[in-house]
Amino acid sequence: MNRRELTLLVNGTNHRLTVETSEPLLWVLRDRLKLTGTKFGCGEGACGACSVLIDGAVYRSCVVAVGDVASGEAITTIEGLGAPGSLSALQQAFIDHTAFGCGFCTPGMIVTATAFLEGTANPSRQQIITAMDDNLCRCASHPAILDAIEEVAGSKREPED
Ligand code: FES
Repeated sequence: MNRRELTLLVNGTNHRLTVETSEPLLWVLRDRLKLTGTKFGCGEGACGACSVLIDGAVYRSCVVAVGDVASGEAITTIEGLGAPGSLSALQQAFIDHTAFGCGFCTPGMIVTATAFLEGTANPSRQQIITAMDDNLCRCASHPAILDAIEEVAGSKREPED
């Protein structure tokens, strides 16, 4: 047991909290900060539902101990990417393509795709597939998810013969 006071920078706002340092970041986001867009799926880093950005890189918040997040590191959740009336391009594209069934995996998908598109200019469909391969969707919405990401990437390609 190691309780400590720390400051978490989440979606541009500093939060001063006393936490159990081993507590997964996911539960601090959901239970303490009420940012419930980040979802609990497998709890062991395998499904991607809990994905968040830390300084722009994707982390699975169910397996990140909150005590391991350094003060000043910028945590971004799905709520930090856009809001009603000011959705991000990916959030809008997911709506336009109905790129979800139940929607449970959607925040993690968008967070992961956001980081991918930040780091990859004009990706191919195959690069998008590879980048999203470890984010699971049980509603079989992967084709629409890939379409939405591809639209934002601006990499729509003609079908090959
Ligand atoms: Fe974290 Fe599945 S809930 S990867």
